Formats: sequence, structure tokens, C-alpha cells
Amino acid sequence: MEILEEQRENWGGRAAFVLAAIGSAIGLGNLWAFPFKVYNYGGAAFLIPYIAAMFVVGIPLMILEFSLGHFTQKAAPDAFGRVGKKWEFVGWWGILLSFVIIMYYPVVLAWCFSFLWISIKAIVTGSALPWSGHGIEGVGRAGDFFYKEYLQYNGSHTLGGINWKLFWPLVITWLAMYLCICRGVKLVGWIVWITVPLPWLMLLLLAVRGLTFKGSTQGLAFFLNPDWSQLASPAIWRVAFGQVFFSLSLAFGVMITYASFLHSKSDINNNAVIVCLSDFATSMVCGIVVFATLGAMAHVTQTAGSPVPVSKVSLGGPGLAFVAFPYALAQLPYAHWFSLVFFIALVTLGIDSAFSITESCLAAIIDKTGWKRSIVLPAMTAIGIFSGMLFITRGGLNWLGTVDTFVNGTWGITFMGLLEAVVLSWAYNIDTLRLHANNRSDWRLGKWWNYAVRIFIPVVLGSLFVWNIIDDFFVSGGGILGFFIQKDGSVNLPHCVGMAIMAICPILAVLTSAHRSPYLQPEDKTTRKSVQRKTERLVGIASLAMAILSVLLFAAALNLPSMAVHAQVKWAMIVASVLAVTAGIIAGNFAMDRAYAANAIPSSIARWSGVLSIMVLSTIIAVMLVQLTGKAKIPAVSEVEQTLKGVSYIMLGGVSLLIIAGLVWCFYLAVRAGSNGSNTLQQPEEN
Ligand code: PFF
Repeated sequence: MEILEEQRENWGGRAAFVLAAIGSAIGLGNLWAFPFKVYNYGGAAFLIPYIAAMFVVGIPLMILEFSLGHFTQKAAPDAFGRVGKKWEFVGWWGILLSFVIIMYYPVVLAWCFSFLWISIKAIVTGSALPWSGHGIEGVGRAGDFFYKEYLQYNGSHTLGGINWKLFWPLVITWLAMYLCICRGVKLVGWIVWITVPLPWLMLLLLAVRGLTFKGSTQGLAFFLNPDWSQLASPAIWRVAFGQVFFSLSLAFGVMITYASFLHSKSDINNNAVIVCLSDFATSMVCGIVVFATLGAMAHVTQTAGSPVPVSKVSLGGPGLAFVAFPYALAQLPYAHWFSLVFFIALVTLGIDSAFSITESCLAAIIDKTGWKRSIVLPAMTAIGIFSGMLFITRGGLNWLGTVDTFVNGTWGITFMGLLEAVVLSWAYNIDTLRLHANNRSDWRLGKWWNYAVRIFIPVVLGSLFVWNIIDDFFVSGGGILGFFIQKDGSVNLPHCVGMAIMAICPILAVLTSAHRSPYLQPEDKTTRKSVQRKTERLVGIASLAMAILSVLLFAAALNLPSMAVHAQVKWAMIVASVLAVTAGIIAGNFAMDRAYAANAIPSSIARWSGVLSIMVLSTIIAVMLVQLTGKAKIPAVSEVEQTLKGVSYIMLGGVSLLIIAGLVWCFYLAVRAGSNGSNTLQQPEEN
């Protein structure tokens, strides 16, 4: 067990850690996914579910991941192993999901490197940019350049052979990632001083440039004019929650790993909020950059007599970053230089996200096996390049989309987030983590946080998860079989492969965690001194009874119409079932709290009935949501050019105020804590 006493490497200063975590969070997801999602899902209305997801799930889970990583000083699998050996697989599951991302994320980064290179070449040689052109045909040509000439995309899921033109950019990308992390987190702590501020500077330049052009506010109208009716669409809520997870790099194990390298006295709570708000701020600036520039482009092309309205450029997927935006820039003066600025922003945004995933996988393997970094990292780089080759085939773009949809959708990240919250709060004394965080933070979390992680977040994520399943299988598709088999009887290959990957991850996770390693820390048994007590067990049984009663009531209520009973009776039964299951959750929670307060093991029946009750409540909520909102569909975006509405200004102002005030508050607390006495940081130990 000598390894336990060994000093873990650390970031050094607080700023290095915060920047590295921000670096992981801000990435390609901010620049191309966020603006497009806001545009496509109700404009400023999308900001409502997004802010809800950020504050209800994002920030509390970020604090959870930071405190777990910091408390255990281990990467995700070992950190969960500390909760209980049988939970180690949860950490591996997250790591495997991030491994899936690291197969394709560097491929996109490789495209960014290529486009950066093309911009540099055009500046040096004075030649035209291949994506410049005029009018609608010009947009088509920019699209052709990216899809046909550069990607050699065949438009199908047939692989169609490797496009070797993309091979070297991929190798260069991996090499760059290798160099950034080969010396451990100390070097990363220095590199992020470049890779975080530099894209911010570039984005600022692009924002000022976009906003100073005529037409920019018309562009912003596409981004911000709200369509409130979209709030009733399930799609908006799902997309907003998924985007928060992806954008904050949550539930992939990355933030747990990063926090494990934190200095023992470092703040946790305040850092978590700073990271989340900075990510949100970056996303908003990206949205403004993209749409102000597209608005300017629409105006310029209109005046030149070859109009290209914003709604006529493809903004989905890679179309935004590699076709629409470069085309828009090319319509404005100094196109070459601003293309350079844009692709520098993309490369620097993406690279620290990419190496954060690599670092997280690496740390997990090293913690488990004790192997040397100098062996594992080159091996991972080779595996990364090799597996990335699937996505540089001519059908690679389709596979990239498929894999991304699965990992960042229902089956990947929403479920992982749910599992993480449930395991850490129902299988472990969550208060240990809260006190650990509070003992070293600029401000303290109240007990409400325990209940947020134990009850509220699982219910929210659970409802979303069940809602997604119902939608995937029964509303949008033709039942479970219809999800895998198409109407003409052929196999739906993307769905089968996507689902297979999602299924392989937990299987591999269980197998990996089954292997016992001499390097792992023992379980945390601090709360296991006395035996379980009768009262908690009885409360647990009551909780179970409530959950069962609730299921029966709800099932009966759903079947009532066929029995032609009055609608009021149906609603009364639904309300009764919700109340019953809520009582079940409260009872389970009470039993847990009581047991931990007495330093006892909570009875397993209380734990499991609590979790079961959460699942039941989530299912009830999801079914009700399906009934109330119907089929999830992507709303159509208005074709008409609009002007920015008053309410859009108010929303933009409100969001900016929220972010700025939040950040100012966090920094004020950080500075105050920093100047409080010597460097022992923050408050005395809590009991
Ligand atoms: N947060 C990154 C982005 O927005 O591009 C992507 C990402 C990084 C996802 C790290 C997951 C992860 F573990």
C-alpha cells in the first residue's frame, strides 16, 4: 500500500486547475453545437431549459465530481471503487464513454488543423480561399469543397476506403495532444494559459468584427428571437440537458480526474461555479460571433445583388464551422486573416478538451495498473490514431454523427449522469463529500445539496431518460424492434452499431473492474462501524410498499379510459400515485440520513426502495410528459428575415447579467479567501 502514501502529482496553483477545467469544458461543443442548438430549438426560449439544466444539474454535479476526485485523489474508476468495490465499474463506464469520444473528437480537430493550414497557405501565397465565392452558388461551392473535395464524403454508412488526405492531419493532432500531456499535469497547467485565453481573444475579435457590420442584428434575430411555444416540445429539454453535460465535460470522468490532481487545500465549490459560468459565457459569445457574422454576410450579399439569407446556409453538424461560417467570413474584408483567427480559435478550443479526455483515460489506466505514463500514453496515441481511421473513411462523417448521437444522447451521458448521482448518494454517505468540499471552499454548501444529488437530480435525469426511451422506441419509432429493423425489413445499421457500442461499454466496464489491482485504494469504511437498526429497515419496507402502491395506482389510472370512468377519478389516482411514491422517496431518504447520523450502515431495503421510488416517479413524470406534449419533433426554423425583438434584448441582457454577476461574485469570494491570512486557504475544519 506504499502507493497510497506516495504524493500525487498536482496542478500547482488554483488558476492552473481552473483554467484546465475550463479548457476541457470549452471546446468545439461551444462554437458549433451551442449556437446551432439555440437557433434550431426556439431561439432565446432555448436559454430557459439550458439555464435550468445548468443550475439544477450542471453546477451541483460539477461540485460532486470535483469533490469526489479531490477527496479520493484518484481517477474516476478508483474514485468510485472507494465508494464500494462493486461500484468501480461506474467509473470505468464513464471512462469508456469518453474513450468513444476520443476516437472521433480528434478527427474533427484534424479538420480544424487542415483548414487552419489552408488559411495560412492562402495568406502566404495570396491565393483565394477555397470556400470563398458569391451568392447561393458560392455557398454550394463551399459545401462541395468541404464535403466532396476535402472529406470525399460518400453520403452513406458504407466506409468506402480511407481518405489518406486526412491521415496526416489526424496524426499531427494526436502528436500535438501527446506533446501537451506527455509531461503530466504540471505542463498541462502551463499550456492552458495559452489554450484558454487565446480562443477567448480570437472570439472577442470575431465578435467585435461581426457586431460592427451592418446587418448583424438581423443575424442575431435568428439566434435570439424566442419561440416560446417550443418550450412544450420534449426535444428542447433533452437537447438542453445533453448540451450541458457535453459542454461541461460532465459524467465522462474527466472532471473527477482533473480534481484528483488538485492541491489538498484547494477550493472546490467556487471553482466549480467559475468553470460552469465561464463555459456558459463562452457559449453565448460563440452564438453572438456566429450569428452576427452570418447577419453581416446576409447584408453584404444582399447589397451585392446575390443575396444569401441566413436561413439558406447549412448550420447543422459540421456545416456551420466548415461551410457556413468560413463562407460568411470570406464575404467580408480581410477574409484570409479572419479565417486564420477563426481556425486558431477552433484548434485552441478543441485541443485542451481532447487532451483532457486522453488524460482522464490515461490516469484511470495508470491508477489501476501502475504502468508507466511513458508506455501508456504512446500506446493510447497509437490506438487513438488507429480507431480514428474509421472516421476518416469516405463514410466516416455519417459514422461520426451516429456515434456522437448515441454517446451524447439517451444511452450514454444522460444515463451516466443519473447513475453517478444515484451511486454517490444512495450507496455512499454524500455528506462526506459535502463536508469535504465545504472544509476547503470559499463558500459552503447547505444540506440542500445532499437532497439535490440524492433526489432532485435523479428524478430530473431519470424522467428525461425514460422520456427519451419512450420517444426513441414508441413515439418516433415503431417499437423496440422497429428501432433496429427498418420498414422494408432491412437492418438499421447505425442504430444497431450505436446501441452495440453503448452496450459494450458497461460490459467492458464490469469486466475491467472485476480485475483486482494492488494499486487501488480500499473502500471507504468510515461509516460502517455499527450494525443496521430496526427502525430504518421498517421505514425501508414502508418506502417499498409506497412505491408498489404508486405503480398499481398509476397503472390502474392509465387503464381507466377503457373502463369509461370519469376523468376526475383518473387524475385523482395519478395524483395519489405521485404522492405515494414521493412519500416512498422521503422515507428512503429519511432512513439513509438517520443511519448515517448514527454512524450505521443504512439498511439495503431503504436504499433500494428509495432508488426504486425515484425510478417510479421518473417513469410517471415521463409518461405524463409524453401524453401532454406528444411526438418530439425538431421545430422548423423561420425562413423570413427578422429584426431583433425587444424581448430578445431583455433575454440577452438578463443572461449576461446572470453570468457577469455570478462570476464577479465568485471572484470576489476567491480574492477574499485568498487574502484571508496566509496561504492555508479558507475556513477551519467543519465537524
Ligand atoms: N466539453 C467539450 C466541448 O464542449 O467541446 C467536449 C468534451 C470534453 C466532452 C471532454 C467530454 C469530455 F470528457
